[in-house]
Amino acid sequence: MATIRLPGLVDAHVHLREPGYEYKEDFLSGTAAALAGGVTTVLDMPNTNPPTATPDRLIEKARLAAAKVVCDVGLFVGATNTEEDAYLPVAHQACALKIYVSDTFGSLRIDTLSLLHRLFRTWAEQAAARGGYRSQGRADGLGPITVHAEELMLPVCLALSRIYEVPLHIAHVSRRSEIELIRDAKMRGFTVTCEVTPHHLFLSAEDLAQLGARGDMRPRLASPDDVAALWENLAVVDLFATDHAPHTLAEKGIDVVTPPQNTPPGVPGLETMLPLLLTAVHGGRLELEDVVARCVTNPRHIYGLADQLDTWVEVDVDAVYELANGGLHTRVGWTPFAGRAVRGRVERVYLRGACVYEQGQVMAQPGSGQVLFGAAAPGT
Ligand code: DOR
Ligand code: ZN
Repeated sequence: MATIRLPGLVDAHVHLREPGYEYKEDFLSGTAAALAGGVTTVLDMPNTNPPTATPDRLIEKARLAAAKVVCDVGLFVGATNTEEDAYLPVAHQACALKIYVSDTFGSLRIDTLSLLHRLFRTWAEQAAARGGYRSQGRADGLGPITVHAEELMLPVCLALSRIYEVPLHIAHVSRRSEIELIRDAKMRGFTVTCEVTPHHLFLSAEDLAQLGARGDMRPRLASPDDVAALWENLAVVDLFATDHAPHTLAEKGIDVVTPPQNTPPGVPGLETMLPLLLTAVHGGRLELEDVVARCVTNPRHIYGLADQLDTWVEVDVDAVYELANGGLHTRVGWTPFAGRAVRGRVERVYLRGACVYEQGQVMAQPGSGQVLFGAAAPGT
């Protein structure tokens, strides 16, 4: 058995579901799943119930997280059509602003150009008042704007980011048209970064017949040509991030007598990303440095995250096994990759010198992880 040490991974796109959907996941089960996947920092999305759209809700979410998390967590604020930019007073306590302009789970999709325009303008004004953007190497300031912007909404967000000089991060890029536009925008000096999920790298629409609702997420699984374009343009891809988005199999209409009409999109991913990527390394499709850059160095830079001292993951790179639904820490207990042969297993995780995960068991106490950017500090 060959064991290697990797730095603790950052997953910059997860849905931990608390408050409002704790039956799918909560801060404890979701961060336990993170540790099992070798992830020691997660950035949590705002489409909870209620959405993280106001100062009170960010502070309340931070308090819930502080009591439960077993790895470090940054919290996104999110814009809604009714609350607009109400989050601005706590913008510096969020890891970033998330804006949805394409179809998603929940009610956060922004409907009008006038509101979208305002959200970019006021984030830029707030950043100027707070000393700029962390993503540009400053310790203080604001995070970037991260968007769920598919197809024609992508150039709209690129334009607004350029006009207001806001660093833009594009979540879960899935199509050739999108990655090629981001490539060309980068070449022309746009301040834009992007991420790709393991499911868009390792699955395509051709897998839908076998996966059914287990393969339904937004963005949808794309064509084999789109998948090939992501691999061809790996140099343009700054991050691998899971978009860990748990829903129960019953909600997905699987193994139930009367399947629901509208099944929610999204798949869990925290526990399967590293073995999938290490399998690609073994197969010669990636270098280990490509994984470390996209899962550690680049997310820390883009979101301005401090290093975690004495933090590492021990991986048995010779372990060959099948990914399975059994034994997962995510509350929903399934993965779209069940049955896939992989190579590389997380054996142990150390966070700030303490062994927090060992061979399937979470050793850390709930609340031993940190909530980043002071969001859980008393009196804020
Ligand atoms: O598939 C998805 N699920 N895409 C999203 O944009 C949201 C996510 C969720 O929260 O379930
Ligand atoms: Zn998401």
